[in-house]
Amino acid sequence: MNTVTITDNRTGKSMECPIKQGVHGPDVIDCQALYKELGMFTFDPAFMTTASCSSKITFIDGDKGILLYRGYPIEQLAENSSYLEVCYLLLYGELPTQTEMEVFTTDIGQHTMLNEGLLRFYNGFRHNSHPMSMLVGVVGALSSYYYDAMDITNPEHRNRSSLRLIAKMPTIAANSHNYLVGRPYVYPRNDIGYVENFLQMMFSTPNRPYETTKIAVKALEIMLILHADHEQNASTSTVRLAGSSQAHPFSCVAGGIATLWGPAHGGANEAVIRMLQEIGDINNIPKYIERFKDKNDPTRLMGFGHRVYKNYDPRAKIIRNICHELLNELDTANQPLFKIAMELERIALEDDYFIKRKLYPNVDFYSGIILSALNIPLNMFTVLFAVGRSVGWVAQWMEMMNEENLRIGRPRQLYVGASKRDYIPVNKR
Ligand code: SDX
Repeated sequence: MNTVTITDNRTGKSMECPIKQGVHGPDVIDCQALYKELGMFTFDPAFMTTASCSSKITFIDGDKGILLYRGYPIEQLAENSSYLEVCYLLLYGELPTQTEMEVFTTDIGQHTMLNEGLLRFYNGFRHNSHPMSMLVGVVGALSSYYYDAMDITNPEHRNRSSLRLIAKMPTIAANSHNYLVGRPYVYPRNDIGYVENFLQMMFSTPNRPYETTKIAVKALEIMLILHADHEQNASTSTVRLAGSSQAHPFSCVAGGIATLWGPAHGGANEAVIRMLQEIGDINNIPKYIERFKDKNDPTRLMGFGHRVYKNYDPRAKIIRNICHELLNELDTANQPLFKIAMELERIALEDDYFIKRKLYPNVDFYSGIILSALNIPLNMFTVLFAVGRSVGWVAQWMEMMNEENLRIGRPRQLYVGASKRDYIPVNKR
């Protein structure tokens, strides 16, 4: 067995930590016995170099810009697959046969409706709420319905709850939008595809059904595929940690949605558009680039940089290409934003600050432009990210729940607070 020796040079005490090898990517040092053997913890704030689990679902190579779902390259899935087929692949590990796909699609169709009691839940939100706050609330509230599959130790219940979430997210998302714009909720339909269904729930009105276009459906299908899973990112790690306490998956995913909302994570797609709108003109880019680099200025170039990708995010490349196709065919109004984005990317990629720090466009840099071209409102961008990522959250949760010895996640710390001291009565302070 290959090992890494760790020696405490204060005591000379050593231990051998086994090296574990995966199929792709860096090997890991198994240091689970470190505290028992040497009485110390590892220290890795923000988990920059920590593998929190072993997984078969998604592989990322940050240097080579590789993203695989169950071994299949994201470029091939974006080109050839559908979001629901990718959901099946992520959940069960293999591409479905024709029959398996038909059964899966039917199963999903059984769960697209919401309990009517949940529709009243929206009325508690102000009409200027952010739809992500509504998504957190309504998804969390799913746990107070659907009692027929609450036993998370039962694999069939786990599967049914996972399908329910994938099926209901577009309905919950579209309802949030319709509530905020004062339009009636549009019920899901099972006679059309998953993406067409979302679009018709978002944009149909009682007096005017929404006509989807092929390019809009294709663009949104690919967007959902690209956002479906991404290894142990912040929101997925939240879902896994919550799930390790054996909480119900709807509650775990509500936590994942809350984490995704942050502008450093999934909230970046909305922040990119606000940034491009603020820049407003190509001639303003140089002064903004200086701001992004200024340590005294908290503004960052949103949609750039990634904890793992130190080369181009493969998803950004795919989205950039769809932008060209979509804007040429569908929408000129967003051409200026797209032109600013492309010029911003060109300038940033030539600037030493970004080159030295290996900062490239990530999935969020261009995604907002596509969503704008599809007339998705700006405040719904991260909601769309959450709809796409729902399958990744439940697939990772299911993988964890299927582990033999599921244990609650409970990190430790380096304590740097006050040393032990006695209470001082108030009249002596
Ligand atoms: C997603 O993890 C995932 O997989 C996430 C995701 C997924 O699919 O789940 O891919 C989705 O969240 C994509 C990322 C979206 N976020 C943004 O676009 C926000 C802008 N990006 C940054 O906030 C940042 O790049 C992060 C949060 C994405 C990554 O942060 P890290 O890895 O902690 O990097 P860092 O903050 O340590 O930055 C290293 C250096 C620093 O400068 P120095 O202190 O070395 O001088 O790079 C600088 C940073 O200041 N830097 C940036 C920058 N990103 C990093 N400077 C300007 N603009 C930026 N965007």
